[in-house]
Amino acid sequence: MKHPAFFSLPVALLLVLFVGPATLAQQQSPYAYKIEKSLIATRGAVVSAHPLASQAGLSILQLGGNAIDAAIATQLALAVVYPNAGNIGGGGFMVAQLKDGKQLALDYREKAPAQAHRDMYIEADGRANTDKSQAGHLSSGVPGTIAGLFAAHRHAKLPFKTLIAPAIELAEKGFIITAAEARGLNNLQNDLKKYNTQTPVFVKDSEWKAGDTLVQTDLANTLKRIRDNGQAGFYEGKTAELIVAEMQRGGGLITKADLVAYTAKYRDPHVFQYKEYTLLGMPMPSSGGVLLHQMLKMIEDRPIAAMGFQSPGSVQLMTEVMRRAYADRAAHMGDADFYKVPVQQITNAAYLQERMKSYSNEKPTPSNELQPGTAVGTESEETTHLSVIDQEGNAVAVTTTLNNSYGSRTVVGGAGFLLNDEMDDFSIKPGVPNMFGAVGGEANAIQPGKRMLSSMAPTLVLKKGKPYIVVGTPGGTTIPTQIFQTLVNILEFGMSPQDAVYKPKFHHQWLPDELVVEKGFSETTKAALQKMGYLFGKERGGIGRTELIMVRPDGSFEAVADRRGDDSAAGY
Ligand code: DON
Repeated sequence: MKHPAFFSLPVALLLVLFVGPATLAQQQSPYAYKIEKSLIATRGAVVSAHPLASQAGLSILQLGGNAIDAAIATQLALAVVYPNAGNIGGGGFMVAQLKDGKQLALDYREKAPAQAHRDMYIEADGRANTDKSQAGHLSSGVPGTIAGLFAAHRHAKLPFKTLIAPAIELAEKGFIITAAEARGLNNLQNDLKKYNTQTPVFVKDSEWKAGDTLVQTDLANTLKRIRDNGQAGFYEGKTAELIVAEMQRGGGLITKADLVAYTAKYRDPHVFQYKEYTLLGMPMPSSGGVLLHQMLKMIEDRPIAAMGFQSPGSVQLMTEVMRRAYADRAAHMGDADFYKVPVQQITNAAYLQERMKSYSNEKPTPSNELQPGTAVGTESEETTHLSVIDQEGNAVAVTTTLNNSYGSRTVVGGAGFLLNDEMDDFSIKPGVPNMFGAVGGEANAIQPGKRMLSSMAPTLVLKKGKPYIVVGTPGGTTIPTQIFQTLVNILEFGMSPQDAVYKPKFHHQWLPDELVVEKGFSETTKAALQKMGYLFGKERGGIGRTELIMVRPDGSFEAVADRRGDDSAAGY
């Protein structure tokens, strides 16, 4: 079969008109594309988990779109080419600064369906049934992604139908899958058979191989309904009917009323200062911005740069601040629309100083001796991240997820997309760990219409008010600790963006009381910390997949795609 070109004739003609044939020649084919790990660009850059998605974003920048346009197109393309996390059946967060200085935090996190309730995963014997919260129909929250992308679109320049065109084309005509994708799909075959009421396109009799073409006709048709009917193309009409029918066949809870009622929300970004930098993070219902704030502030007045990268001293200090922040996560954080989260109290300087009083540079503070802080006063492994920047001065960080790899493993019959298993991010029973080992209680208990607490941390760092670093990563509860390390690597250890992303990471989350390190972490440092009394968990092959763009002194953009996957940068 002769493979068609990446873009259909009308889109290609538009590209030639606006961009010129020279640039068009650089477009990647979905049948022969290449991964670009880092690049320097002057006009715009996109980094995402898949080369074809980054390319979709770049093509939109080249058509005259801004970073918001490109982020929308990239996310839609990821839903096609990176089905284990890119999604329209999940949710996410966007943090952005626009060229006029306006700062945005857009929340399109999934919500608990109206029929959900606090004890919905508790069996008669009192046991919390994580099988039901982690896969299958009952694990899905009401998807937020499409509502989020339409909410973001008010800051975009091009029509939505232009932004969704690359995704439709990739779904309809297909693309070749990478070795990593083939592995992911092969590992999933049993679950796909178990959790589906109709056989999805991802099920195959023989093994998937790198180079196989994946065509997703049902998904293309769903995307076309969204193109033609806007948000209602997902939350109403045929797509909604297919979702509800799937729920009814599989014992899920999402109803038509849940879908119509879903709204994305603009919130105030969580903004704080670290030395001469301003950081913009995601506020509740993500713990990401607040955890990053707490961790950075707890090291700000300590000589971490002098201690050196991954020296026993710096790792020990960073571990202790991680532990303290995550104890607060478990007790205090949840959807602030439903629970009064004491954000000001747990981020103010005096509180954080108090939290560090029990810190010793000679030994661990055992987690069972460290309780969450008391807030006083009155209150005023799969996700994906993409970073985009443009020459107008817009910078966008988006992290989006189905929760774990391929979400609930349930594909909506006839609609071709995977649903999330985000319900597991609630605390399904106080003290029972979720799939990332995180515990919680009242603040993050299930309630109808509530959003489950997240760790996703799309983050912008500003220098003199202008975008300096755009960063984010997947990785469940390791997300905030990874961003913390990537930023400390650059801002304190003076590392290049690529080293900052590529160096092995470590992680502590209070409970379980163990330090987890990534393959390649310094053995000497590990031995020194063991001697001090630190317990180490099982070493991990890879932690996260960070996508980072840094603005260089001359104003050009350095884009870095993580080495840990098929992640790829595109720019011009
Ligand atoms: O929102 C959260 O924190 C999780 N659902 C993110 C899941 C994730 O990062 C999985 N990736 N490895």
